[in-house]
Amino acid sequence: MTKRPSIAVLCSGGDGPGMNAALRSVVRTAIKNGIDVYGVYRGYDGLLDKTIVPLDLASVGNIIQRGGTFIYTSRSPRFMEAKYRAEAAKYLKELGVLGLVVIGGNGSFNGAYRLSEEQGIVVACIPGTIDNDIEGTEFSIGFDTATNTAVEAIDKIRDTATSHERTFLVEVMGRSAGGIAITVALTTGAEAVIFPDQSVDLKVVAQTVERGIKRGKKSSIIIVAEGEKEGLGHGYQKTLKDTYGLETRLCILGHIQRGGNPSARDRFLGSVMGNQAVQAILDGKKAVATVVRQGKYQIAPLAECLNKRNEFDKSLVDLLDTLAL
Ligand code: F6P
Repeated sequence: MTKRPSIAVLCSGGDGPGMNAALRSVVRTAIKNGIDVYGVYRGYDGLLDKTIVPLDLASVGNIIQRGGTFIYTSRSPRFMEAKYRAEAAKYLKELGVLGLVVIGGNGSFNGAYRLSEEQGIVVACIPGTIDNDIEGTEFSIGFDTATNTAVEAIDKIRDTATSHERTFLVEVMGRSAGGIAITVALTTGAEAVIFPDQSVDLKVVAQTVERGIKRGKKSSIIIVAEGEKEGLGHGYQKTLKDTYGLETRLCILGHIQRGGNPSARDRFLGSVMGNQAVQAILDGKKAVATVVRQGKYQIAPLAECLNKRNEFDKSLVDLLDTLAL
């Protein structure tokens, strides 16, 4: 009996709610088109350790609403080296897959690009990162849920902050990308936002909070984008107290932002993008990414999506200042 055509799929890097919805879409689209699917456990490491499982229709049942990724993920230092990428490619060729679907962020996209450039493997990438910092797409899977999770947590912090008439620093994820920070700052009515990778004037932050207290505000929230170095929130807390006499409590939201049931938006994004990625492989595309541009779901050359997008609309910071008066 001749073997049916197949593809492989993996998740790589930090997980994000909505990845399971994307996996479900990949598997069901492929099977509908007569293609078998191998799920690769633990990201690129799974290609090196050969931990693959066939995924059938039932294997992706009852997962669209679940956070995380049921095939696990990893950050693979080995895959940064060309010799391991060659090993992974050899395995994929042995399996005889038509292509590899990669769900992940910047590092994962770059790994896939190298696999395609160096080894001729067909890759279709789906943006999956809560940071929403992939060049060439307006949205990545996980961002919407992560911001909603942060908003829910900060609303709770606001309650206790108000009862005690306190100021809180709340550190959110996103590394050097400020997308989560500015979004939750605006949508929780925060008084200020701090981006560590830009010049930070803590004097202005302290003045903003004090101005609010003078006009009768009972609580203040300052959102801190985590940046690339750990512990920045603690440093800001100390400086605000020692230099500007502003007492704060610090709450680092951390990995809570990566878990939880995906929002409708992330389930939708995962469902559309999973389908498009498989379709791209069937259409004979070689190295592509699924993207959202001006609200439209499209396929783009992967080469357009390899950089980190740290920029967000800076006028939003002015908007925050205006609304926090
Ligand atoms: O890239 C996604 C992300 O959640 C970042 O926002 C965060 O800095 C990082 O991953 C944390 O990674 P890890 O779970 O490996 O500590």
